Amino acid sequence: MKIAERIKAIPASLTLAITAKAKAMKAEGIDVVGFGAGEPDFDTPEAIKKAAKDALDAGITKYTPAGGTPEMKKAVCAKMKRDRGLDYTPEQVIINCGGKHSFYNLAQVTLDPGDEVIIPAPYWLSYPEMVKLADGVPVIIDTGVDQDFLATPEQVEKAITKRTVALVLNSPSNPTGMMYTPEQIRAIADVCLAKGVMVWSDEIYEHLIYGDAVHCSPAELSPEHFANTVVLNGMSKTWSMTGWRLGWTCGPKEIIGAMNRLQSHQTSNPTSFAQTGGVVGLERPLEHLDEWLASFDERRRLIVGRLNAIPGIRCPEPKGAFYVFPDVSAFYGKTICGKKVTDSMSFADALLEGANVAIVPGIAFGDDKGVRLSYAIAKAAIEKGLGRIEKALREAS
Ligand SMILES: Cc1ncc(COP(=O)(O)O)c(C=O)c1O
Repeated sequence: MKIAERIKAIPASLTLAITAKAKAMKAEGIDVVGFGAGEPDFDTPEAIKKAAKDALDAGITKYTPAGGTPEMKKAVCAKMKRDRGLDYTPEQVIINCGGKHSFYNLAQVTLDPGDEVIIPAPYWLSYPEMVKLADGVPVIIDTGVDQDFLATPEQVEKAITKRTVALVLNSPSNPTGMMYTPEQIRAIADVCLAKGVMVWSDEIYEHLIYGDAVHCSPAELSPEHFANTVVLNGMSKTWSMTGWRLGWTCGPKEIIGAMNRLQSHQTSNPTSFAQTGGVVGLERPLEHLDEWLASFDERRRLIVGRLNAIPGIRCPEPKGAFYVFPDVSAFYGKTICGKKVTDSMSFADALLEGANVAIVPGIAFGDDKGVRLSYAIAKAAIEKGLGRIEKALREAS
């Protein structure tokens, strides 16, 4: 059977082994606590669902323009103005089939073979693969717990070469939940602007932020930064619409036009009635978030507090999203639940087999010293899982 070289080069998901094992254990009736969730544990707001149902009944079941309906583009423009103070015209906006699709198509239309994209690690695991699928070269910057998992302007500058096309910024971040301050965003975006490197700003967790954290898009900094930034976003997290597949990209009209041409021969439009629901989501005030954020914040503080109370664990307090990324490397070389642990994979494996807790090894995100836990699960499950982790790690030898 012939498989293209391009696809052969994509590694099997490193998290697959753990996820598959956790599933098999659950099927055997074992009570596994899963910290792997990548989506909010709340339902899509009712008004959005109703709008999509009404759209179906009204016959909105046909093709729309490939790059999205005029209504959805208009709603994205209004949202970018309302939330970020940015003036995008519909020619600077495309609606994609989810934020992942936005990034994939952006890479496809901007990268030639050998072009480099700088990605700070830990990163969302699809970025490097999508860059490679566009024949680009991911250039990884290591951050680590000592710098709160944030890249510095110096690191970015050092990583830039003649082949660098873009830097990926993801604030708040998956997998760490960490955020750059507006000053840090400016310092990094200034380096990129000076060197002619675009900033691809993935802002999908923009509204899931806590305490006094302030979200800043590089596009807000100046007209020059606006022209040098591509903003990626979508409905999955803020509106809990992961299954609807709606994302968007805002940027220079040459890039958006190229993405339009690609999309017209690829997926064509995002689902028609999903877009109708999306418009309602974008136009409504974000009042559903009051309850969600209060609940996420309580769980965030619970999980960070209890993880940091375990000797050996270092977990900076995340400012956004719904993940924590503790550095667990102090346990490497030890035995946990009877298993020798040497890296994030064996650490996650020991906790799964020995304590019935499923977490994601950091190696999947380009940082082998940490692991990711999502707190988009019930508080009771978090408490149960933490109890098991605490016991297993306190008994480590
Ligand atoms: C950082 C980041 N960007 C983009 C996405 C894409 O989400 P979707 O394709 O569901 O819009 C995700 C989803 O997990 C994410 O974590």
